Amino acid sequence: MNILRAAISHTPRNPFLESNALVALADGGLAIEGGKVVACGDYSAVQRTYPHADVRDLRNGYILPGFIDAHVHFPQVRILGGLGYSLLDWLEQLTLPEEACLADTAYASMLATEFVAALASHGTTTALVFGSHFAAATASLFDAAERRGLRIFSGLVLSDRSVRPELNQAPDAAYRDCKSLLDRFPRYAVTPRFALSASEAMLDVCATLLRENPRLLFTTHINENLREIEEVAKLFPWAKDYLDVYERFGLIGRNSILAHNVHASGSQLGRLAEARASIAHCPCSNAALGSGIFPMARHLEAGVRIALGTDVGGGTGFGMLKEALQAYLMQRVAAQANTLSPAQMLYLATRAGAEAFGIENETGDFEAGKSADFVY
Ligand code: GUN
Ligand code: ZN
Repeated sequence: MNILRAAISHTPRNPFLESNALVALADGGLAIEGGKVVACGDYSAVQRTYPHADVRDLRNGYILPGFIDAHVHFPQVRILGGLGYSLLDWLEQLTLPEEACLADTAYASMLATEFVAALASHGTTTALVFGSHFAAATASLFDAAERRGLRIFSGLVLSDRSVRPELNQAPDAAYRDCKSLLDRFPRYAVTPRFALSASEAMLDVCATLLRENPRLLFTTHINENLREIEEVAKLFPWAKDYLDVYERFGLIGRNSILAHNVHASGSQLGRLAEARASIAHCPCSNAALGSGIFPMARHLEAGVRIALGTDVGGGTGFGMLKEALQAYLMQRVAAQANTLSPAQMLYLATRAGAEAFGIENETGDFEAGKSADFVY
C-alpha cells in the first residue's frame, strides 16, 4: 500500500445541491492499493490507520481527482485553434474535411495516439469521446486508450445526410459497424453526429442499438447554434423542437449526454430533467464558435444534470481546469448571472462527468473503493 501525502481536494457530493461539498485537506493522505483508493483524509489519521504503508511525500503540489471530459472529438486534435467561424461554416470548411482524412487508418491511428497523450498530459483520465465516421479509426481510438490506461467511452459517429458525402453511411451498414464495435469495446456510446446529419432511418438505428443494449451511453449535439436549430426544424417539420427529434426515437434517458444546449426552451429543460439526461457544457467552444452563453442558472433551476466538456476542436484545448475557469467567466456575464464556487468548478471538472456516465461508484472522487484516478 502507498500513501500519497499532499494537499488534496475532491467533491464527493454535489455542491450545486449541498453546501460544504468540498473536501479540502491542507495536509492530506491518499492511501492506494492495487489501483484503488483505500482511504482519503488528513494525513496523520490515514498514516495512523496504515502505519506500514509506504509514504510518498508530494507536499510541493496538489492532488485532485483525474479530470472527466464529457465531450471531446478525437478526429479534431489537429484543427484546434481555427477561430473566426460559426458552427456550420466551421464544420463545412475546416472540420469535416479533416474528419474525412480518417478514412486513412494509419493516419487515424497516429491521431488516436496523439489524442490520448493530450488527454493524459492535461490530467484527464476519463472522457466521453466523439469517435470517427470510420469504424477502423474509431477502433484505433479504443485501442490507444487501452494502451494509455484511460477510461474512454466512444462510438462510431453516424451521419447519412447534410455532411460531406464521404462521411455518410447507409443506416444498415452503420448498424452492422456499431454492433461489431460494441461487441469488442464495452464502453460504447451510440453517437449520431447531430439531428441535422441523421435521417429518420439513422435515428431508428440508434434506437435499435439502445434497445438491444440498454447499458450503452447515447451522445450527440443539441441546440448549439441558431442556424443549426432552424435547419433542424426544416428537416423535421413534425418536431415541436430540437429535443423532440431525439425523444420521438426514444433516445433521451438517464444514459444520454447531449452537448451544448445553449438555446434551450423551458419546455426542453423540463423534459431533460424529467428524463434525467445530462448536458455536456462546453464554454470555450460556445465562445470560440460564437454559439452563445450557456443558461446555466436555468438548467440548475430546472434540475438538469450538467457536466463539463472541452469540445476539442470547437473548443480551445484539452485543459479541464481552463474549461472550468471559462465556465466561471461566462456565467459571470450571463443574462442570469451566476458565480460558480471553487467546489462547483472542481465538481464540474470531475465527479459531474462520472455521474453523467453513471460511473460515480467507479471514479470522480476519492471515496474508498474507487479507482485511484488522480492528477498531481
Ligand atoms: N455539431 C455537429 N458536429 C459538431 C462538432 O464537431 N462540433 C460541435 N461543436 N458541434 C457539432
Ligand atoms: Zn462537439
